[in-house]
Amino acid sequence: MAIENWQHDFNIGTVVRNANAFLAKEVHIIGKKRWNRRGAMVTDRYQHVRHHGSVQEFVAWADDAGVPILGVDLFPDSVPIETYDLPRRCVLVFGQEGPGLSEEVRQAAVDTLSIAQFGSTRSINAGVAAGIAMHAWIRQHATIAH
Ligand SMILES: C[S@@+](CC[C@H](N)C(=O)[O-])C[C@H]1O[C@@H](n2cnc3c(N)ncnc32)[C@H](O)[C@@H]1O
Repeated sequence: MAIENWQHDFNIGTVVRNANAFLAKEVHIIGKKRWNRRGAMVTDRYQHVRHHGSVQEFVAWADDAGVPILGVDLFPDSVPIETYDLPRRCVLVFGQEGPGLSEEVRQAAVDTLSIAQFGSTRSINAGVAAGIAMHAWIRQHATIAH
C-alpha cells in the first residue's frame, strides 16, 4: 500500500501499523521522507517501508513491478470498494488529511475506490480508511482458518 505525505501526515504511523497487521508486502511513502513514527507502535521495525520523492517515481516503480495502482478516495467517479473485485497484486494508495489523493495519482490509478459512509462528515480519517481498505483485500484473498 502507499500513502502521500506532502505535509507530514500524522496518520502514517497508523497506516504502517495497519499494513503490518494485514501483512502488506510494503508501505510506499510518496513525498516527504520524514514521518511521525509514534502511531506505528514499533511496527515500522518489521515493515518494509520505501520512499518515493515524487508521484512519477512511485508510478515508475509500480510499472516496473507490474502492480496496478488503485486510488482510495471519495471522487464522484470512485467505485464502491464493498463490491469491487480487488486484484490479488495491487497497490492501494491513500491521500493525506486536507488535500486527499493528488490529481497525479488519480490519473495514474486504474480505478479509484470509495468506502461507503452515511453521516455528515465529508470523509473519514486516512488511517481508518487504510485499515478498512486493506481488510477488504483480506476478505477477498486471505485464507481464514476456522
Ligand atoms: C481525510 S481524507 C482527505 C480529505 C478529503 N479530500 C475531503 O474532502 O475531506 C484523507 C484520505 O483518507 C481516505 N479516505 C477518507 N475517507 C474515505 C472514504 N470514505 N472513501 C475512500 N477513501 C477515504 C482517502 O485516501 C483520502 O485521501
